[in-house]
Amino acid sequence: MAAPPRADAFDDPTVPHPARRYNYWLGGRENYRVDRASGDAVAAAMPSVRVGIQENRAFLRRAVRFMIGEGIRQLIDIGPGIPAPDCSHEVAQALAPETRVLYVDNDPIVIAYSRALLRSAALPELDEETGEPVDGSVAEADLEQVAQDGRGLIGHVLSDLCDPERILGNAELRAVIDFDQPVGLLLVAVAHFCIEDERVYEAVSRLIDVLPQGSLVAFSHASTDYLDPRTKGRVDAANRDHNSPFAFRYSFEIARFAAGLDILDPGVVPISIWRAEDEPQPRPTAADTGIACWVGRRP
Ligand SMILES: C[S@@+](CC[C@H](N)C(=O)[O-])C[C@H]1O[C@@H](n2cnc3c(N)ncnc32)[C@H](O)[C@@H]1O
Repeated sequence: MAAPPRADAFDDPTVPHPARRYNYWLGGRENYRVDRASGDAVAAAMPSVRVGIQENRAFLRRAVRFMIGEGIRQLIDIGPGIPAPDCSHEVAQALAPETRVLYVDNDPIVIAYSRALLRSAALPELDEETGEPVDGSVAEADLEQVAQDGRGLIGHVLSDLCDPERILGNAELRAVIDFDQPVGLLLVAVAHFCIEDERVYEAVSRLIDVLPQGSLVAFSHASTDYLDPRTKGRVDAANRDHNSPFAFRYSFEIARFAAGLDILDPGVVPISIWRAEDEPQPRPTAADTGIACWVGRRP
């Protein structure tokens, strides 16, 4: 495992960002040379990495559609990445326009892009301390507009997954999410960037604890079980060499994140096969993607 990122890593142009590297793999333009070098090194170690990324996006789409089908109308998406086609609010609001979505990411670039691109449907910026809109007049106009359109609000929180109190205490979260109603929590391809076991298990457990009955959680994570040891060793070395902290975990460890939930059928499985009957066949294999997933319900 690579060392944890330095506190100032997000300001350092020599340190790759997971979000910009992911954007590179997805064919986007919001990335720098350092992100492309890290992405190319991982792709050399695991040539099917882009299949894994595409399948991860497809799992995200299926999971969000499933949640909407189950009546969920508010989502918390932690680690959404730089906005790409079919991000969770697009998929959700295409089926249920009133769905509210709160995006949480620890990368200021992700939040800045997301706020800028989703401005029309977004909440105004709120002061972290007072919870008041930074510019009250804009706030009222925006909220009125949103109410007239019947579109669900979209909020943004800059926070680390491993700091759940910062997420839960945020004024924008409280403006968007009603904890008296079931919530869809998306933790898709994010927990493997948290290499400190104790912190990430505690954080996910805390976030699950506050979810009301009937809430759903979708989770995906790079799995040690699916890669042959040599490929995994090469990916670990590429991440280490490029200063990209990343932790594969075994599928039984990935299942442990679901403590307090009922894992729904088909259980903890490769992302390519989770409720994928309507996807093009044959499906990519577990080794092609290297990523496991589950969806669970709060009893
Ligand atoms: C690989 S992208 C996943 C994007 C999207 N969830 C998907 O599956 O398509 C990982 C995202 O998680 C964010 N991230 C990484 N570590 C994080 C952490 N500790 N807390 C919050 N976000 C994190 C990155 O900035 C990036 O936006």
